[in-house]
Amino acid sequence: MGKTKIRYVCSVCEHQEPKWLGRCPVCNEWNTFVESAEPAGSAKGARSRAARTGSKAVARQVIPINAVKTGEQVRWPTGMQELDRVLGGGIVPGSTTLVGGEPGIGKSTLMIQAAGLATVPAARLYLAGEEAPAQLKTRAERVGLARAPISITTTTELDPVLRLLDEQKPSLLIVDSIQTLHSAEAGDIPGTVNQIKYCALELSEWARETGSALFLVAHITKEGSIAGPKILEHMVDAVLYFDQSEGDARFLRATKNRFGPTDEVGIFTMQSTGLMQVSDPSSLFLVRRKGNVPPGVVVAPVYEGSRILLVEIQALTVPAKGGISRVFSDRIDTGRVSRLAAVLEKHLGLRFSDQDIYVNVAGGMKIGEVGIDLPLALALYSARTGIPMGPEVTVTGELSLAGEVRPVQALRRRIRAAVEMSFKSCIGPAAVREGEQCEEAWIPTETVNAAVKAAFGERRGG
Ligand code: TYD
Ligand code: MG
Repeated sequence: MGKTKIRYVCSVCEHQEPKWLGRCPVCNEWNTFVESAEPAGSAKGARSRAARTGSKAVARQVIPINAVKTGEQVRWPTGMQELDRVLGGGIVPGSTTLVGGEPGIGKSTLMIQAAGLATVPAARLYLAGEEAPAQLKTRAERVGLARAPISITTTTELDPVLRLLDEQKPSLLIVDSIQTLHSAEAGDIPGTVNQIKYCALELSEWARETGSALFLVAHITKEGSIAGPKILEHMVDAVLYFDQSEGDARFLRATKNRFGPTDEVGIFTMQSTGLMQVSDPSSLFLVRRKGNVPPGVVVAPVYEGSRILLVEIQALTVPAKGGISRVFSDRIDTGRVSRLAAVLEKHLGLRFSDQDIYVNVAGGMKIGEVGIDLPLALALYSARTGIPMGPEVTVTGELSLAGEVRPVQALRRRIRAAVEMSFKSCIGPAAVREGEQCEEAWIPTETVNAAVKAAFGERRGG
């Protein structure tokens, strides 16, 4: 065999280049090229792997679909409700879950807590490629799990790991991180796309065949520049991402889940004794104000996964420099902000096209839910006119381009959540979904004009 050729492979679309490039010419993502010892896809590892698994593949038979036994799906609880929620009710035996997030977010802490607290039938093995056993022990001590039945290995070679798995037969394997694992079968350089894929594939196959559960931890940076999560997403059963708000809260979301929902969010805070679950987050992001609310501020009950959270939307408008309007909004999609500004301009004659618009969600929660339309529209109205909302009012509803207030999911639960947080009323859609009865605090509105009238009443200008 000739000398190993270095290639650069895009970690998003796998396009290859002989030289490193800042931006991939195919998928246009920045900083995605990583060094690879040989062209991806034709790895000798892949070939020898096929040879090894060939006989097994032949032995597997074709079965008629009606002969497939499903039975009841077994789940192993992780001992953390918030993690179970995101997984869809616990760990599925035989599954592979990818846990991604920036360094320092708390992936290792989450994993050691899960390893210590989960109810699994056999051993738990923690493969720590990044840290010494002493560091892992210190972390386990901090979270109060130093006596938990967890075995540790710092081996980063795949073959000894596979042998270890055969011997120990753990039900739960945590690989922290997949980027540190390597196999001679997949080229010479650890950390390349080939290596990560090859190791992840071998281990997930082990999990599927033995009915054990596998968690793969992977780092990402803000720019997503390190190969890992992206290339593994299609190979695993579930992808969880851990990210942080401006405050203390850390959100765990599933972006893919073969065995559960993808709209659930697990909420944690990092304490000196590990990750604490926030099981009642309704007020976590709420700024309770005494007296008057400043213009541009609106409180909204939003539906996240299966829970209602009360959040404060803040809007600010200032005359645009050079007459070109811009939208600055990290937490709510800028397209949505522009659309709502256009609806207000059209239906209320309020000019936004010469304004710069800033939008924020207090506490830093990202919101993609449709029920944020009407509260955001009223926050924009309030910011633009300088008229504040009453302190005891909340708002929810979707808004059509025609200025109609559309029904939202779980309206009644939203209203109740607002009342529980001692708000007096909730301006919402007049049309309710079937089977939904609304509460006394409900102020039904059909159009954005009616909602503005209900919110700002007599204070309303032209
Ligand atoms: P870590 O889980 O190591 O993050 P990751 O694996 O994602 O890189 O820990 C994240 C941070 O949390 C680290 O700076 C230390 C801190 N921390 C606490 O505040 N309390 C604790 O109990 C633990 C274990 C860590
Ligand atoms: Mg870590």
